[in-house]
Amino acid sequence: MSWIDIGSIDQIPVRGARVVKTKLGCIAVFRTAEDEVFATSDRCPHKGGPLSEGIVHGTSVTCPLHNWVFDLNSGEAQGADEGKIDTYAIRVENGRLMLDAAVMERSAA
Ligand code: FES
Repeated sequence: MSWIDIGSIDQIPVRGARVVKTKLGCIAVFRTAEDEVFATSDRCPHKGGPLSEGIVHGTSVTCPLHNWVFDLNSGEAQGADEGKIDTYAIRVENGRLMLDAAVMERSAA
């Protein structure tokens, strides 16, 4: 797998996220309190809420619109909530965020 540097982990607030535009659409890159990072679809499967504006707790995020909760590892909705968000490979290397290059290069068509 090859990786693309998309910036510094310091550009993401702790327990927050930033949005990265890719050919697959907007991806939310989250940073947890433990400085783990996750990349998922920014769009909530319920009614399209921006998950990057949600609240990160543990390794989950709560949608800002109606509080559905998604696991950032699996993308699965938690509890009684339904659906799944896409997840993408990402890692941190020397403080830099490295996203799966295929996500940036893949065509949306
Ligand atoms: S749009 Fe995310 S919970 Fe409704």
